[in-house]
Amino acid sequence: MRTILTALSVAAAFAAGPAMAQAYPNKPITMIVPFAAGGPTDVIARIAADNMSKTLGQQIVIENVAGAGGTTGSTRTAQSVPDGYTIMMGHMGTHGAAPALYPNLKYDPTKDFEPIGMVAGTPILIVAKKTFPAKDLKEFLAKAKADGDKINEAHAGIGSVSHTTCLLLNAQAGLKPTQVPYKGTGPALNDLVSGQVDFMCDQIVNLVEQIKGGNIKAYAIATPERSPALPDVPTTKEAGLPEYQVSAWNAMFAPKGTPKDITAKLNDALQKALADENTRKRLLELGAVLPDKAGQTQDALGTFVGQEVARWTPVIKASGAVGQ
Ligand code: MLT
Repeated sequence: MRTILTALSVAAAFAAGPAMAQAYPNKPITMIVPFAAGGPTDVIARIAADNMSKTLGQQIVIENVAGAGGTTGSTRTAQSVPDGYTIMMGHMGTHGAAPALYPNLKYDPTKDFEPIGMVAGTPILIVAKKTFPAKDLKEFLAKAKADGDKINEAHAGIGSVSHTTCLLLNAQAGLKPTQVPYKGTGPALNDLVSGQVDFMCDQIVNLVEQIKGGNIKAYAIATPERSPALPDVPTTKEAGLPEYQVSAWNAMFAPKGTPKDITAKLNDALQKALADENTRKRLLELGAVLPDKAGQTQDALGTFVGQEVARWTPVIKASGAVGQ
């Protein structure tokens, strides 16, 4: 009898599939941001969610679940009910670098999520407290190398973008700073502005306002070209460290098993947000690099995550950071 009832309930669920998606969403959606409020991932999530909520007709509520370089919130999402009402904003750290830095990671970025879509590329800048005694990148690197662990580097936890991208910088430049972890680069930036820490590698969307306000120093941006949002900040190539080329990205994911009709509906709302003039303006003003139409599909993100995990694993292992 039980077997028959189970079979009937599964059949009913499949039969309701399209109807379920048609009804979706019929209550608010939770978007987990795996870092503290006010940081780049949080800011990008809130800008995208603001427009998506209008398209979907339901509020997307941001829930900040910080810790362990973003892997706490990512694990929470991977283990949530795949009904479309829990999604997350991940990034190059949580869905690219983390597997190489956490041998016992409780999720596989390539298997435990359904890709919704890419939201924003985020160039990385090398920034320091405004009183740091170096006028340019060359002087900064010389001073940081000479002072060793007397220099404090802020980041958002092992495996975060800020941690991973400074790992690369430290390996290339021979720096051995004291690392100061935070629950996100939002709070880390507060301490950089107040001079409690010396430097950070962070995503441009977190930095534009503080750089323009003269509250922190920006030594270089690690992209081939300068950013239109920060035209006065030299590239690492111009500043004498051409080999330091790194950019991060932020993208939306749902837990594995979330019905395709539902993730397609979320992708559609995201694509509409990325086409919305006001949403584009808010992201571009912060220095984000927006994906082209081909880069906005679910398949494009799924393929990209596999490439990022494959790219970062050898880089991180070569840096000797694993197991630190
Ligand atoms: C944040 O939102 O705090 C950052 O994305 C953290 C990081 O990955 O550096």
